[in-house]
Amino acid sequence: MIRRLMVMAAMTAMCGAGIAQMPVSNSTIAPALAQTPPMGWNSWNHFASKVTQQDVMDAADALVKTGMRDAGYVYVNVDDTWEGERDAQGVLHTNSKFPNMKALGDYIHARGLKFGIYSSPGLKTCGRFAASLGHEQQDADLYASWGVDYLKYDLCTYQDQMKAAAKEHPEDTELANRMMREAYVKMRNALDHTGRPIVFSLCQYGLDNVSSWGASVGGNLWRTTGDINDSYDRMTLIGFSQAGLAKYAGPGHWNDPDMLEVGNGRMNAEEYRTHMSLWALLAAPLIAGNDLSKMSDETKSILMNRAVIAIDQDKLGKQGDRVRADGPLEVWSKPLAGGGVAVGLFNRGESAAAMSVSLKEVGVKKAHEILNVWTGEKIDAKDGSVSAMVPRHGVLLLRITP
Ligand code: GAL
Repeated sequence: MIRRLMVMAAMTAMCGAGIAQMPVSNSTIAPALAQTPPMGWNSWNHFASKVTQQDVMDAADALVKTGMRDAGYVYVNVDDTWEGERDAQGVLHTNSKFPNMKALGDYIHARGLKFGIYSSPGLKTCGRFAASLGHEQQDADLYASWGVDYLKYDLCTYQDQMKAAAKEHPEDTELANRMMREAYVKMRNALDHTGRPIVFSLCQYGLDNVSSWGASVGGNLWRTTGDINDSYDRMTLIGFSQAGLAKYAGPGHWNDPDMLEVGNGRMNAEEYRTHMSLWALLAAPLIAGNDLSKMSDETKSILMNRAVIAIDQDKLGKQGDRVRADGPLEVWSKPLAGGGVAVGLFNRGESAAAMSVSLKEVGVKKAHEILNVWTGEKIDAKDGSVSAMVPRHGVLLLRITP
């Protein structure tokens, strides 16, 4: 009791000394959304600034035709470069690449899919298009009128405001971080005010250890890193840097190591299987970023492997973590509902390597079944261990059922 009073007195003194509280959201809508990591498609990784309304409609059609929608990929997300100018009333219009957003939303919904859009809390987006500063509610209302279900809110140029304020108040060392959180709370409130349940995707590249507060500002997912690109080096740098973040993720709030590059062509199949396996073990959002209208069978088989998707989407909602790393050979595991565990043996080295994992080290006493997730084959544990040759840049992904 005395200890508690002392802590309270210390906190009051701190507030008195001008240490302001970090803003939090009291949204009741946010925690109920994204009970499993969001799945869908986003225009950025492949189309970038060239994306048009037709490309997005084609993506929606492809999600249905290829079976991706039925495998769980339901969000169709327009990234940056759709924005035009604001009119005299401040209403934002689209640019000529997107002639009719309401029609696009209807087109997406008519296919049993959901509609996502992009903005920034700054004056301009990263692509230097009009963003939401000072127009948050107006923009949220506009999105709702188009039937938007998901917003990616990218910090970008808002960092200019944060830096300017921090420069003006050097004594307030947390001012910039507070402003950043305030900006996210503001948009979360604006989204909630529309009455539409809108998934809120924070994009600020992991600044200020966002994993520890992303949920508190009403985020359903938050980028933990800078941008991915279609290279094994960048993908693995990002993916394997997620160790230690598992404790922050759970139903309604997920770490987001950025969108998928599977199918964009600069990694081989082994590497894309590593990408997909690692993202599944991380309970990461699975947002495809390739041209869905031109997918090879190999790409389809990687994006639509149901057993891999099931690991990502597992109802327990626990993110996996690194078990150990011996140089370039890493073992990761993810607890699953029902007491099972998914295990990835990753070979980040430049030649094939013999790897093994004991059931004990991944917390399994007795395995009823061990499945090679990518091939569907059953594997026997010998002396309580699974051993295999893992190809260069490859993975052996296991699902162990107790
Ligand atoms: C970046 C963001 C990318 C993409 C891009 C659009 O800041 O990380 O994912 O949205 O902006 O300009």
